Amino acid sequence: MKTHEFYRERVNSQLNLFLSSIQSTSSSKNRLNDIMKYSALAGGKRFRPILTYTVASLYNVAIEKVDSCACAIELIHIYSLIHDDLPAMDDDDIRHNQPTSHKVFGEAQAILSGDGLQALAFQVICNDSLLHDETKVKLLSLLSESSYKMAEGQSIDLSIVSQKVDIDLLNEMHQKKTGALLSCAINFGAILNDTSDKDLSLLEVFSNKIGLAYQVQDDVLDVTTSDDILGKRQNSDSTKNKPSYPSIIGVDESIRIFKELYHGALDELSLLSVDPEPLRKITRELMSRSY
Ligand code: IPE
Ligand code: IPE
Ligand code: MG
Ligand code: MG
Ligand code: MG
Repeated sequence: MKTHEFYRERVNSQLNLFLSSIQSTSSSKNRLNDIMKYSALAGGKRFRPILTYTVASLYNVAIEKVDSCACAIELIHIYSLIHDDLPAMDDDDIRHNQPTSHKVFGEAQAILSGDGLQALAFQVICNDSLLHDETKVKLLSLLSESSYKMAEGQSIDLSIVSQKVDIDLLNEMHQKKTGALLSCAINFGAILNDTSDKDLSLLEVFSNKIGLAYQVQDDVLDVTTSDDILGKRQNSDSTKNKPSYPSIIGVDESIRIFKELYHGALDELSLLSVDPEPLRKITRELMSRSY
């Protein structure tokens, strides 16, 4: 069983290789490429690609066939964070312990670097010569659907600032803005193997639970954890009057709910046709993350 650190290193080096290969095809110094690299190579837990590698490993997919999906999901994630931090959105100045892209390069270049990363996410899968065309179409279709959901979730997020909302709308927003990409990361691993419908539906329930849990936990961390540990500003949500689980039902109840969701997700894995232990291990790591 490979460790999460191994997969983290793997996706870091693959992202570096991929983004550097884009640069080397440019005749002049490609500034957009540097701006994209500033955010893409700054760190981050890389949980989404780690999930992709882990699920693929359950089904013995060769790691070389997983690299493009691992990069693609992280590129979309990074693009979503650059745009999420913009003044027109959450207006945050620190991400991954460094100034946000727009603080360093200005808003226009930050927006464009997000646009560039999004486009490259699709390109990295298209260019992968190890994957069959039929598989690529499935992967690209899921990636586009999930990226759209993320944007829709972000749109809901910004449309309910300062409003009183119920838990159902909050859940829908969380599932879309955060759950969709996590679910895509998990399903990538299964699509690469042509996994059975039974396993796919178990993984679907699993990913819906951890998708919601992950954002509830993010909202709890926002109120309980310092800037230094988070690598981003504490209380970003409350300063902008964002409705959140902690603001509606309190921190303790929110913690109880996200733990219950993670435990529920773990239970789903018992019926998989393969040994779920590596996926259990990463789920426990997600559950106990401190930032
Ligand atoms: C932050 O996600 C934004 C959410 C969708 C909750 P992560 O906590 O996974 O981001 P990284 O690890 O800093 O990249
Ligand atoms: C971000 O949610 C979700 C996406 C970027 C899609 P948040 O706004 O809560 O994420 P952080 O707290 O800034 O990382
Ligand atoms: Mg946000
Ligand atoms: Mg934010
Ligand atoms: Mg947050």
